[in-house]
Amino acid sequence: MSVGEFRPVERVFAADSVGTTVRVRGWLVRSRSSGGILFLLMRDRTGSVQVTGRRDVLGDAGFDAAEHVQVEGAIAVEGTVAADPRAPGQREVRATQITIIHAGEPFPIMADQTEEFRLDHRHLVIRSPEHVATFRVKAEVLRVLREFLDREEVLETTPPILSGNAAEGGAEAFQIDYFGRPGYLSQTAQLYLEALLFPHERVYALTPSFRAEKSRTPRHLTEYLHLEVELAWCDLTQLLDFEERMVVHLCHTIAQRRPRELSALGRSPDELLAIASPFPRLRYAEAIDRLSAQGFPVRWGSDLGTAEERALTLEAGSPIFVTHFPRELKAFYMLRSPEDPRTVEAADLLAPEGYGEMIGGSCRETDVALLTERLSQTGAPVAEYEWYLDLRRHGSVPHAGFGLGIERILRWMLRREHIRETTPFPRTPSRHTP
Ligand code: 4AD
Ligand code: MG
Repeated sequence: MSVGEFRPVERVFAADSVGTTVRVRGWLVRSRSSGGILFLLMRDRTGSVQVTGRRDVLGDAGFDAAEHVQVEGAIAVEGTVAADPRAPGQREVRATQITIIHAGEPFPIMADQTEEFRLDHRHLVIRSPEHVATFRVKAEVLRVLREFLDREEVLETTPPILSGNAAEGGAEAFQIDYFGRPGYLSQTAQLYLEALLFPHERVYALTPSFRAEKSRTPRHLTEYLHLEVELAWCDLTQLLDFEERMVVHLCHTIAQRRPRELSALGRSPDELLAIASPFPRLRYAEAIDRLSAQGFPVRWGSDLGTAEERALTLEAGSPIFVTHFPRELKAFYMLRSPEDPRTVEAADLLAPEGYGEMIGGSCRETDVALLTERLSQTGAPVAEYEWYLDLRRHGSVPHAGFGLGIERILRWMLRREHIRETTPFPRTPSRHTP
């Protein structure tokens, strides 16, 4: 081929492109031929366009070769842009030459295949328009969150993924053999973020977290992306204000920047634009009252499971905070409520419509004696947490933080039925390949 540079496919649709000669390259979405004309739909990262090729222009050999390119085969096309009302987007490229980069083998992914088959072929399935849209939005979510945290003067830090501490509780941690000693894959970066908070005051990390739970639910992964924030001089009200500001900003910015992908996935950008603060704040005790009035067999001390969270949020148009849980239900590091020592200064943010918990956060206990007591009650090896207890021996100050599950919030924002659709290679109890 001779003429000019390769253009992104989207440029074919520019106002001034009709009549120009272009070169585009990418992958075949589908093809058919009729009456000596080949109709190809090809895509690149910017979009898809119809390419037509005539036998009398391409020559018999060129036409026959192009006709045999498989779905997802790779081609390069040189041709003239023409307006055609029958073509998708009313444009097509009339090929003068089609170069076959890789004709490919028959593509194994088709409609109506079983979910197991699709998961076995995940490396190919992720080329689908649905996954392309999803992971474009996911990238934007990460960008928007980083922009927001940067503006709030929260410093990005890099805590470890491998640790000798199981952090939230040994039962759910993946244990590994660390040169003959026990090691764990991180469930949370929180303890390290707390250490980093003293020199930096406002810190965050965006890291994978691992949970060895055999929960086969539409909202559990064994590996997920965890955004964790830790803020000095922060009480529960300020923490919830921060989370609320972040979630509202995220919803609005995604609606503005990714309306096409949202609509393609069946989510109206207007619905995300309608998310507004303040989010309702419901105490655990009130939540229990509400649930028992609805006939749930719950009382003080009951954990809120999927069904309970669903009932609390089914009618809600907005995320809801549930606060002040009983101490026994929550992690050892959470601060006792000053007005009621049975509860902790903690809050879960629940997504509307039953999508469940998106954020877990709390104020942290600052007193070394109380912290040690709670830690030993959980049966954890206190000696291995000495470094963490040190943080309460040298300038201990009030602080609070939270963890946001990226795939959890994305599942709600994109209304995906299963959380695995929000990550390219989902890790669940039954699968860690491909
Ligand atoms: O509520 P979690 O367990 O809280 C913590 O780990 C705290 N140490 C975080 C902190 O304060 N720095 O987890 C936080 C969030 C949950 O709200 C949920 O969104 C997500 O992580 N999450 C999961 N996401 C996908 N799959 C799982 N198995 C998840 N477990 C938790
Ligand atoms: Mg939680």
